[in-house]
Amino acid sequence: MTQPTLQRYELRDLIRADNFIDGKWTAAASGQRFQVTDPATGEVIAQVADSGAADFRAATDAAARAFPGWRDTLPKDRAAVLHRWHALIVENADALGRLISLEQGKPFAEGRGEVMYGASYVAWFADEATRIYGDIIPQQQRGKRMSAIKEPVGIVAAITPWNFPLAMIARKIAPALAAGCTVVGKPAEDTPLTALALAMLAHEAGVPPGALNLVSASREHAVEAVKDWLDDNRVRKITFTGSTPVGKYLARESAGTLKKLSLELGGNAPFIVFDDADLEAAAAGLMAAKFRNGGQTCVCPNRVYVQSSVYEKFADILTTRVAALKVAPATDPSAQIGPMINARAVEKIARHVDDAVARGARVLTGGKRLAELGQNWYAPTVLADATPEMQLSCEETFGPVVPLFRFNDEAEAIRVANDTPFGLASYFYSRDVRRIDRVSRLLEAGIVGINEGALASEAAPFGGVKESGYGREGSKYGLDDYLSLKYLCQGGLE
Ligand code: SIN
Repeated sequence: MTQPTLQRYELRDLIRADNFIDGKWTAAASGQRFQVTDPATGEVIAQVADSGAADFRAATDAAARAFPGWRDTLPKDRAAVLHRWHALIVENADALGRLISLEQGKPFAEGRGEVMYGASYVAWFADEATRIYGDIIPQQQRGKRMSAIKEPVGIVAAITPWNFPLAMIARKIAPALAAGCTVVGKPAEDTPLTALALAMLAHEAGVPPGALNLVSASREHAVEAVKDWLDDNRVRKITFTGSTPVGKYLARESAGTLKKLSLELGGNAPFIVFDDADLEAAAAGLMAAKFRNGGQTCVCPNRVYVQSSVYEKFADILTTRVAALKVAPATDPSAQIGPMINARAVEKIARHVDDAVARGARVLTGGKRLAELGQNWYAPTVLADATPEMQLSCEETFGPVVPLFRFNDEAEAIRVANDTPFGLASYFYSRDVRRIDRVSRLLEAGIVGINEGALASEAAPFGGVKESGYGREGSKYGLDDYLSLKYLCQGGLE
C-alpha cells in the first residue's frame, strides 16, 4: 500500500499567531495580542492572541461538542491519527527544532532532539490507545457478572511550561487523545509558537475539529482566563507541568469541581557522588543532567553532594568540563548553552550565586552574567564550599549553576538529599552493588538515576513524590491518568 505523502514545511510556514479552536485559527475575542520574543536577542518573533475567559470558554465549548464523537472512535482509528501526527512531526523535525530554538533559546541540536523526544510520546501513546484493557472480575454470586472497564475522563485542560515547548505539551495531548479525551490547552506565554505549530500538524493528521484546542494568553491575562477552566464542570482533568506554587493553586482552585489532576512540579534534585564512584563517569553524567537546556529543567541536579575524600578531585574534573562549554546563540552550530528564557530567570540565578558567594562559596568557574551577549545570558558556573544556609540549597536555581556540597558518609548523604519538600528526580554514582540497592530505596524521589544522568524516555514513568506533585507521564502507567474506571454489575443472568 502506498503511504500518503507528508507535507514538509519551512519554519515561517509553521508560525501561527491565533488560537486554534474547533479546527479554525481565531483571534482573541478582545483582539488583543502580546509579543513573543527571541530570548537570545530580544527581537519580536510574533504577536500572538492574548486570550481572555471568553476564548477559554469557546475552547471548552468546542471540546465538549467534539467529545462524544472522539470518545466513540475505535482505538485503532485514534491510533492511526496519532501515528500520522507522529510522522508529520518527524517529517518537520528540522523546522520545529528551529522554532523551538527561536522562541526558547536552546541550541538547534537540542531543539531537534526535543522534537524527536516529544514525538516519541506521540508514537508510544498511539500504540497504547489499542491496549486499554479492563477486567472481568471472578464471579462472586450466581446470576451476576461483574467487570471493570476504562473510559476517558472527559475534557482535559493541559497547561505547559516554556522549557520544553514541544515535548511537554505532546506528552499531555497524546495520552489524552489516545484515551478518547478531548483537549483544551494553554502553552506558556514565553513559548506558544511551537505548540500552535503542533496543533496545525495534528489537524493535518486528522485530529477532528474540537478534539484539540489551544489558546494563548499573556502573563497578565492567564490567571483570569485559566480560572474559567478551573470553575467549569465540563473540564474533568487538569494536567500541569510547572512550579509548585502554581500546582498548589490549581489543586485548590479546581477543588470546587473535584477535577482529576496530574501535577509535575518543582524538583531541587540531589546528585550524590560517593567515594567509590567512577569520577569521570559521574562528571559526564552530571554534565548531561545539569546542562541540558542550560540547566532549565525540573530534573536538573540542583544540589551536588560529593564525599569529602574525592571532593577536590571531582571539583577539578568537573570545572575543566564546565569551563569548556560553548555559550552561544542557537544560530551558532557549535553552541552548547543558549540564553536563559528571560531577564527574570537571570535575576534569580544571579541572586542565588551572589547569596552563595556572600556566605562563603568559592567560584571555580563562571559566576557572572555574560552582558556582552545580551541581557538573558549567564555563564556556566561551578561553586565550591556550598552549605545548606545558601538559597540555592533550598530553591531551584533553574540555570547553569552547580553548587558542590561536601558530605562524610552515606547516612549523611541520604539525610541531606531528602531534606527538601520536593521529590522529583535524584541521582547517585557508586560502584558498590549493596550501596546501590540501599540508596535507591532510601532516596525520596519519583525518579532515581543510578550511574546515569540522562533519564528521559517515553517508556518510563515520569513524575514525583512529596511537593513535586502526582501523576505519571509516559510508560504504560501514563494512560491511566486520562482514564476513569467504571464497575459494571450485571444481574438476572440465571
Ligand atoms: C521537565 O523539566 O519538566 C521535564 C524534563 C524531562 O522531560 O526530562
